[in-house]
Amino acid sequence: MKVTVVGAGAVGASCAEYIAIKNFASEVVLLDIKEGYAEGKAMDLMQTASLNGFDTKIVGSTNDYSKTANSDIVVITSGIPRKPGMTREELIGINAGIVKTVSANLIEHSPNTIIIVVSNPMDTMTYLVHKTTDLPKNRIIGMGGALDSARFKYRLAEALGAPISDVDGMVIGGHSDKGMVPLTRLATRNSVPVSEFITADRLEQVAADTKVGGATLTGLLGTSAWYAPGAAVSGLVQAIACDQKKIFPCSTLLEGEYGLNDLCIGAPVVLGKNGIEKIVEIELNDAEKAKLAESAEGVKKTNGLLEL
Ligand code: 2OP
Repeated sequence: MKVTVVGAGAVGASCAEYIAIKNFASEVVLLDIKEGYAEGKAMDLMQTASLNGFDTKIVGSTNDYSKTANSDIVVITSGIPRKPGMTREELIGINAGIVKTVSANLIEHSPNTIIIVVSNPMDTMTYLVHKTTDLPKNRIIGMGGALDSARFKYRLAEALGAPISDVDGMVIGGHSDKGMVPLTRLATRNSVPVSEFITADRLEQVAADTKVGGATLTGLLGTSAWYAPGAAVSGLVQAIACDQKKIFPCSTLLEGEYGLNDLCIGAPVVLGKNGIEKIVEIELNDAEKAKLAESAEGVKKTNGLLEL
């Protein structure tokens, strides 16, 4: 199993590290345009192998896509991250050009690959890959919902005073401060609805904190987060590499599911060796449907800024 991660910045390096530590891939190629940077990160990470007990080989490359040839899965993290006060949507101008070029280079060397898009605005970048490549829809996946759901579980556990392993919850919709739809009604603590334990107001606060999860970290760190994004990507990569058939909310091309068409947006999917093997349509109530429809409008508005 060969995985390529494009962009050796904090998110890309964190992805490579988590993938390596989980020890299911034979090789991870880390590629960056900055001379020597990916090679340096790869060497540093390789020097943790004996300490962290993994055998995955991590290889660095300065923009040499031949090293990525025949990757089973590629992850695109390249582009600029947001600064405090910026929305993910504001990154579109620079990142669209980068994602278009990077995806074309990757597919030239790995025509059978599965692409995971992380660059922001992620739903629109995922749609861009659909529009500008010939890859089938099951092989184009946007990473957002897995991260947003992890942040939701963190906030739920905090509100409940419970360990995170006791809580479950999912965020669908767009990966944006306004567009996320945390499914509070379906969140559980050890299979009991969380509404049994906390008030509706507290649950609303959990949802609000979840939606600005990335912005909160950008304010604290001065740039966007990397540990949770890296861990979320590694979860998706592992589900595909190990054919786990796990359900994650991912940005996927919708063609009528949830009453939506011609956009990529977060919905629950089954991930296995073929990438997105199924889009799971869960029964939403009217309020949830309205939030998802509003989120889709926001994503479509951003998609409208693409020069296709
Ligand atoms: C985040 O929410 C990087 O968009 C990513 O942290």
